Amino acid sequence: MPLAGRRILLVIAGGIAAYKCLELIRRLRERGVSVRCVLTKAGAHFVTPMSLAALSEQPVHEDLFALTDDFGMSHIRASREADLLVVAPATANLIAKMAHGLADDLASTLLLASDKPILLAPSMNVVMWRHPATQANLAILHGRGVLQVGPGAGELACGEEGDGRLAEVPQIIAAVEAALGGAGPLAGRRALVTSGPTVEPIDPVRYIANRSSGKQGHAIAQALQELGASVTLVSGPVHLPDPTGVTVVKVETAREMLAACQAALPADLAVCAAAVADWRVAAPSAEKTKKADGVPPPTLQMVANPDILATLAAPGPARPKLVVGFAAETENLIDHAKAKLARKGCDLIVANDVSPSSGTFGGDDNQVHLVGAGGVEAWPPLSKVLVARRLAAHLAELLKGNV
Ligand code: C5P
Repeated sequence: MPLAGRRILLVIAGGIAAYKCLELIRRLRERGVSVRCVLTKAGAHFVTPMSLAALSEQPVHEDLFALTDDFGMSHIRASREADLLVVAPATANLIAKMAHGLADDLASTLLLASDKPILLAPSMNVVMWRHPATQANLAILHGRGVLQVGPGAGELACGEEGDGRLAEVPQIIAAVEAALGGAGPLAGRRALVTSGPTVEPIDPVRYIANRSSGKQGHAIAQALQELGASVTLVSGPVHLPDPTGVTVVKVETAREMLAACQAALPADLAVCAAAVADWRVAAPSAEKTKKADGVPPPTLQMVANPDILATLAAPGPARPKLVVGFAAETENLIDHAKAKLARKGCDLIVANDVSPSSGTFGGDDNQVHLVGAGGVEAWPPLSKVLVARRLAAHLAELLKGNV
């Protein structure tokens, strides 16, 4: 049962189809899914908190400022605890609020604060559905990676006929499964991702590191997992939560990272997003190096670290079918990326500008170029999460038919 143990935050907006979410909750609970419900003010006209609480076996949340309910106040944490946010029914109003970043109640605030995939199940009158405003709002949301199931066509509660019926419960469950990876295009595939910096000791208290935050690598691990891959993330020290449903191996040095990567093989694909230190101190001191009057500062003798990407990409029976590297450059991005592709022997280089003015290191956004044997593909500026989702979908496509 791929859905067992997964956590869904179900947002119920004010549409007549809200009653169908009771059935949805029952079917999800049968599959071992934990469901937490958030009801909008309008939603509460169509379905009672009592029924939702009874079926979900969890408290139902309605108010952003309820003093008796710490869920609303800690909406950031609440939005992060779920693996997936499902909006069913998603009304024209809530879709519009999401598209324009409004956060004037608990549901819209949670949706804006979330960094998890969002699945919309729209339901509304056919004219509202077809209205250019609704379609334009949905196009904005699709561009941000928001998923959608339905609506279907048929007789609507308002008596009119046409598009706008909430997707049937089995259809919504299939979409949830796909969004959570159970039946995604990478189901059955093993993926290895490196992320974050490495730190190389000078002595027991000092080290050499770099500015990598791990945000891009962690987002890639999560996106591959969302498409169904079984993911091992080998990460240097970062200040990020572990991605959900991913095996995380924490390391410090480049040599530890290489050993952890090799232990995670075989894999179908490897994405090396870590900023690995090129050199380490040849002989780190066993004791803290002391300063003393008249003693000159120490000179550090460095030696080269192993190249993890080149090692994984080297021909051999253990080579993953797809090996992807990153090129973090401050100048001549594409030329350097092309040279790196050849030098490392990998299949694809994701090139990104990390000059201080780009804000890439530590920031939430990234602008990348994909450099492969087939040429260069420029992507627009996107959040790191969207770069990750788009890259995961691209890799799934490349792996298709590659048994
Ligand atoms: O050689 P350079 O560091 O510019 O190459 C960047 C790419 O190589 C990244 O994908 C990075 O994860 C990988 N790399 C590695 N091991 C190293 C150095 C870089 O895997 N020692």
